[in-house]
Amino acid sequence: MNKAANPALPSTLNNVELLSQPITLPNGQVIKNRLAKSAMSEALATIDNRPTPLLDKLYKRWSAGGTGLLITGNIMVDRKALGEPNNVALENDRDMAALKRWVEAGSANNTQLWVQLNHPGKQVPKGLNSRALGPSAVPFDKKMQSFFETPQELAEDEIKDIIKRFATSAALAEEAGFSGAQIHGAHGYLVSQFLSPHHNRREDQWGGSLENRMRFVKEIYSAIREKTGSDFAVSIKMNSADFQKGGFTEEESLTVMKELSGLGIDLIEVSGGTYEAPAMSGAERYKSKAKESTLKREAYFLSFAEKVRGEISVPLMVTGGFRSQQGMADALRTGAMDLVGLARPLALNPEFSANVLTEGEVESPVKQIKTGIKMIDDMGMMDVAWYARQIKRLAQGKSINLRENPLLALIKIMASNGIQIVRNRRVRA
Ligand SMILES: Cc1cc2nc3c(=O)[nH]c(=O)nc-3n(C[C@H](O)[C@H](O)[C@H](O)COP(=O)(O)O)c2cc1C
Repeated sequence: MNKAANPALPSTLNNVELLSQPITLPNGQVIKNRLAKSAMSEALATIDNRPTPLLDKLYKRWSAGGTGLLITGNIMVDRKALGEPNNVALENDRDMAALKRWVEAGSANNTQLWVQLNHPGKQVPKGLNSRALGPSAVPFDKKMQSFFETPQELAEDEIKDIIKRFATSAALAEEAGFSGAQIHGAHGYLVSQFLSPHHNRREDQWGGSLENRMRFVKEIYSAIREKTGSDFAVSIKMNSADFQKGGFTEEESLTVMKELSGLGIDLIEVSGGTYEAPAMSGAERYKSKAKESTLKREAYFLSFAEKVRGEISVPLMVTGGFRSQQGMADALRTGAMDLVGLARPLALNPEFSANVLTEGEVESPVKQIKTGIKMIDDMGMMDVAWYARQIKRLAQGKSINLRENPLLALIKIMASNGIQIVRNRRVRA
């Protein structure tokens, strides 16, 4: 980390002054304040995965809303490997003009705009892609098997192709004017599947020891660096842990972060969990394992960030749970993190950051969305489904609907996804 550019934040600053401090990343990029929008999948692309004017409208609202860094929802590196219908896919220069319009909207007001790049691996709704792929053919938890199928094991040449695709997508994003790329290495998607000894049972150079399991992410990182300029930010979102039996642990996560820090990564965002164990959205059963001192703080993963900060100096963003100006300022004052990651608060109010940076006590009304049906509520999908509907309303210029019934919202989304999955297959045929 460029320590000279980021001296410790003075303890005399009040909350607003503290959160308004700019930060310089190792690549020299300046983020104008300490608030960052974490990736939220918009699912606003066309059925053949092209960016639409709805994305421009949405990001115009977010870049006008005071947040220093905006990270897009996950953009797929392969159209044949979507995470949801209507994801944007970035494979070639087909959509350069639309991408440039998106950049213009999202980087207004001196806002940094990065793409998040993803490959879902096995974590993909049944029937969406012609094949579900993973490091190994490990089935999902029983209760998830009606939604997700057991993947086929990736062949070596397919692994190499995916690595190349991440680099190609990053280079295209840079050409369009995005100022950075984030590798989605969290929440149970392909990069995190490779890291996890539960999902990755390979016995070749891509599996087994942690050194082998992290080869995939290290190669993706190096391939992106090779294809992009030195002022382009490269970041990763990583799990503190998977919260799964036999999964990726905090100790392993720390080791991977140290490696990526040694390679020169510009920012690490800390999250946690998967759809099988949705710690990222603050499900109570993961929180209850946390220490009392952690519960008093808003952030779900701050204790882990404190451990990371003791070992590496790369800028850290912590995401999950931030709701109040005081909670954000207190977390920054611990010195364990540099950027506050916000997702759902910005889905409910695109100006939330501006309010945090100007007003006194500000608190987001974000709540966990529950249907009352345990099987559904135990998965991470309900929150994503309900908040995604609010994001669509923002893009359409409508006001959000805090009272939207969770079960009805879920039924509507599942019906719409079902239709889109069929349409998607036709488009591909
Ligand atoms: C609608 C929605 C879509 C999301 N999509 C993504 C995504 O594409 N990539 C990602 O890394 N995280 C995604 N997340 C997780 C958020 O980035 C974040 O980690 C999580 O919501 C916790 O932060 P919060 O408490 O501020 O909402 C999504 C969350 C929501 C609500």
